[in-house]
Amino acid sequence: MKRDLIRIIQWGQELLSEVVQLGDLVFDLTAGNGQDTLALYQMVGSTGQVVAFDIQSQALLATRERMVAAGAQVRLHPQGTQLLRSDPGIDLLEMCHTELTGGVPGLAKGIIANLGYLPGGQRELVTRPDSTVKALEQSCSVLAAGGRLAVVVYPGHPGGTEEGTAVTNFFTELDDSTFKVLQMQVSNRSQAPFLFVAEKQS
Ligand SMILES: C[S@@+](CC[C@H](N)C(=O)[O-])C[C@H]1O[C@@H](n2cnc3c(N)ncnc32)[C@H](O)[C@@H]1O
Repeated sequence: MKRDLIRIIQWGQELLSEVVQLGDLVFDLTAGNGQDTLALYQMVGSTGQVVAFDIQSQALLATRERMVAAGAQVRLHPQGTQLLRSDPGIDLLEMCHTELTGGVPGLAKGIIANLGYLPGGQRELVTRPDSTVKALEQSCSVLAAGGRLAVVVYPGHPGGTEEGTAVTNFFTELDDSTFKVLQMQVSNRSQAPFLFVAEKQS
């Protein structure tokens, strides 16, 4: 199928789908309205497990609705939930993604993070450079060999440029003997979102 060349989010999903298989464990660091969670679910199927984080209950409820409509088994966990067990289905955690390593049941074949604010929600509840970088550090430690981490950055909102710089520095400094890193960017539009994909070497 022909892709829209500059749909950065779709490129991120597409590049994850090349390595994620049915039955795999995958993480969504920013559930939002659940579109990435759904894309991950379509990759891992009903035998796989998707763990998705968000700090807003509004986002998790929207994601749950989308996932239930897709026929998935969904578990919604409140704040303070301890380590999840390995179990097929969708786990939605009302938790900051800096709690990633304390919450997930194993190593992931794919991790996605679509940064910024919830479309249609409060713009102040936005991802922030410090917590984003912490979550990315943890993501690298819980990524399985051969797995990929895809991050979409939006420089256009207040604080977005600073977050973009922090994320760019993070990926630029990853050890190239452990990670292959790709960056994709629309070149002829100002403040366009951009994508990093890192693949952990076997
Ligand atoms: C651009 S939206 C995500 C879009 C989503 N992936 C989708 O497919 O609809 C960013 C989300 O990140 C969430 N967020 C912001 N800070 C967060 C944090 N520290 N931990 C987890 N989620 C966070 C926001 O609440 C918002 O829902």
